[in-house]
Amino acid sequence: MTVEERKQPHHVAIIMDGNGRWAVRRGRPRTYGHHRGAERVREIVDIAPDLGIKVLTLFAFSTENWNRPGYEVRVLMSLFRRYIAREVDGLDAEGVRVRFIGDRSHLPKNLVKLMEMMEARTAGNTRMVLQLAISYGSRAEMTGAVQRLAVEVAEGRLSPQDIDQDTISGAMMTGGVADPDLVVRTSGEQRVSNFLLWQSAYAEYAFIDECWPDFTPERLTELVAAFGQRERRYGALAASS
Ligand code: FPP
Repeated sequence: MTVEERKQPHHVAIIMDGNGRWAVRRGRPRTYGHHRGAERVREIVDIAPDLGIKVLTLFAFSTENWNRPGYEVRVLMSLFRRYIAREVDGLDAEGVRVRFIGDRSHLPKNLVKLMEMMEARTAGNTRMVLQLAISYGSRAEMTGAVQRLAVEVAEGRLSPQDIDQDTISGAMMTGGVADPDLVVRTSGEQRVSNFLLWQSAYAEYAFIDECWPDFTPERLTELVAAFGQRERRYGALAASS
């Protein structure tokens, strides 16, 4: 795994939290917050390449979110479908490659078809990678990676001594994409909630109070600038010590 000092975050990952609270505080149903949250997704994805971000990962639905009321889950699935249908042409024209990470087996078939279409349509794009985490959980991802590597060992295609950190990174759903430099969580919660646990080993975290529907492109711009001021040491000493 290469570890390199960056002044500019190459990969920004965001836990988009607080849609429900944002809506309830305004006397509206939780799902209204998700609709407003989807509008923010469009704005943030639009500005990210202009900020020099090369990979943007958005946590849209966790494996735990399946425990939400059926109505809320259906609204979210329909928002994902609508997002893909509306955005595919624009994102393709902007040179964004879209990739979905997560367990597709429980997702509605029509959504999975749209996801596959969007991935195929944008596969050749190089300006930015947008990873949308849907039905994603880091421990499930790691479990799947271990299982795949175990099969390779059992079939004699891989020897245990050859398994290093790069092998494990490559077996993750995020394989081939650089690790996050900056992980942002909105809504004031200070938890990582099973998100990119392996990949975020050296990431900087920013826990911010705004709920996701209040997260503006200007706020992202500020966070990217603040990242450039932080000193990342990766366990070593500061240059001045
Ligand atoms: C967390 O807020 C947010 C979610 C579970 C859903 C995220 C979805 C979106 C931002 C909209 C659609 C996304 C795309 C990619 C089009 P919460 O409901 O957990 O808020 P709470 O903690 O206040 O209850």
